[in-house]
Amino acid sequence: MTNPIITEWTPHHIEAFGKEPLRFNHQAHLSPLFSNETLADLIERTPRESYYVNTMKRGAKDRSSRREGEIRNLSGLDVLDAVAKGHIWIMLLNPEKVISGYSHLLDQIYSEFQEHVPSLNVFKKKISILISSPNIPVFYHCDLAGQTLWQVRGEKTVYVYPNYEPYLPQPNLEKIILNEAHEISLPYDQAWDNVASSFTIKPGDMLHWQLYAPHRIQNGNCVNVSFTTEHVTPTVRRNFVVNYANGILRRTLGVNSLSQTTSGPQYWSKLATVAAAKSLRLQKGREQKFKIDFTVDPAAPDCVRDIPAYQFSK
Ligand SMILES: [Fe+2]
Repeated sequence: MTNPIITEWTPHHIEAFGKEPLRFNHQAHLSPLFSNETLADLIERTPRESYYVNTMKRGAKDRSSRREGEIRNLSGLDVLDAVAKGHIWIMLLNPEKVISGYSHLLDQIYSEFQEHVPSLNVFKKKISILISSPNIPVFYHCDLAGQTLWQVRGEKTVYVYPNYEPYLPQPNLEKIILNEAHEISLPYDQAWDNVASSFTIKPGDMLHWQLYAPHRIQNGNCVNVSFTTEHVTPTVRRNFVVNYANGILRRTLGVNSLSQTTSGPQYWSKLATVAAAKSLRLQKGREQKFKIDFTVDPAAPDCVRDIPAYQFSK
C-alpha cells in the first residue's frame, strides 16, 4: 500500500470539509515531482496555452499594475533562476499532460478525499502548479470550483474571507461566472482582514476552504512552489447554474433580489434559463483574451523585459 498523502484526518477535518477554511498535513512536498529538475523539465515542455506568467509593481496592493507575459527561448532552469531573482508568478496548467506522475498524484489525493468524505462525489478534477518569486502577492479573488492549496517549498500567508456580502458581492460573482470579469476583479477592503482566517503555510501544509470564499496570498521572502487542485461536484455545478442564471436575469430583467437556492422549482427554472441563454448564444464562451507585454529575461530588472504588446487568446 502506498503511503497516504494527507497524513492526518481529525473528526473536525471530516465534519467541516468544504464548509470552513481548514489546514491539513501532507507529504506531497517530498515527491520528486517537485524537484528543480522535474519542474524545469515541465516548464520547458508546457505549451503556450497551458501557462500564465504575471508580474506587477513591487509593493502593489491592487491589480492595476498587473501584467501578463510570456516565456520564450529559456531553459527551465533559467526560468527557475528568474523566479528566484525576479518578481514573477508562474502558473502551469495541466502538468499531467506533460508528466504523468502529476496525474497519479491527483488521483491519489482525490481517492483519499473520497475515502474520508464519501459525500464529496467529485466528477471533474484538475491540478495546477504555482512557482512564485519572493514577496509577490496574489490579489483578492475567488475561484469557481472547489479548491485546495498545497505548499511544497517556501512560505506564504493565505487570507481567506467569508463567501457572502460584502466580501463577495453577488453581482460580481455572477460577472465572473458569466466570464465577463476576471476572478481578481472582486472589490477588496483592507478592513476585511479583521474577519479573515489567516494561515502561514510551510512545506507539508495544505488548505481547503468553502466554495467561492475570496482569498489573497502574500508570499514570504523566498521562492514558493505550491500546487492547487480544483474539483467539480454536483454542489459546485448547481451553484454555478444558479449564479449564471441570476447573472442573466439581473441583466435582462433588471431583477435585483435573486435567490441562491440550489434545489426545487426555482432551481429548475434557472437551469432552463441557462439552457435557453446558451441555445440563443446570448453568452460568450469561456475564451479568455490577454494582452502580453513582457517576456521573462533573467538579465532584465525583476527578470521582466518589455516587448511590443500583442493579444493572446485561450
Ligand atoms: Fe485562488
